[in-house]
Amino acid sequence: MNKYLKILIYLAVGLIVIQFIGIDKSAPKMEGYLDFMEVELPPEHIASLIKTSCYDCHSYKTSYPWYSNISPISWSIGSHVTEGRAHLNFSTWGEYETEVKKDLLLKCYKQVGARQMPLPSYLLLHDEAKINKEQIEEFYTWFKTQSDNIKL
Ligand code: HEC
Repeated sequence: MNKYLKILIYLAVGLIVIQFIGIDKSAPKMEGYLDFMEVELPPEHIASLIKTSCYDCHSYKTSYPWYSNISPISWSIGSHVTEGRAHLNFSTWGEYETEVKKDLLLKCYKQVGARQMPLPSYLLLHDEAKINKEQIEEFYTWFKTQSDNIKL
């Protein structure tokens, strides 16, 4: 058999086989009162920004796109979600210690201000999650005020 055809067949079989290794999309049911929205009561425009641009990776309310069913793309999405939640989970916000909350609020405005969050790779496929300059300023100001208001 032609060498290249053989390689192609191996690749195709490999791609089919890895489709059986999906990601775990389950998430625990959380008490609503622990959610960031209930604890910090952000104004509507900030709330919708956070839900649209951060909740996919930083909460248990992830909405998975259709391509999250295709390996190996799914693995990358799965690891972003697992890692994102481990660093900051808006669904369990009420459980964080006060110092942790203050620090996370600060990290949020720093990361968004520096355009490091939302992850640039995520924005390639999520136009709706893009944050414009004016929104970044609003985000920055609100998060900074929240953080500064926590006196330790
Ligand atoms: C595509 C997934 C994804 C999205 C969307 C996303 N993040 Fe992240 N975020 C991550 C991952 C993964 C990490 C951990 C690794 C890193 O820092 O790059 C992280 C880390 C962070 C950290 C650092 C926490 C720490 O303990 O150092 C903050 C703060 C943060 N994100 C805030 C946000 C905010 C605010 C938004 C929305 C504006 C957002 N992220 C959107 C995936 C995401």
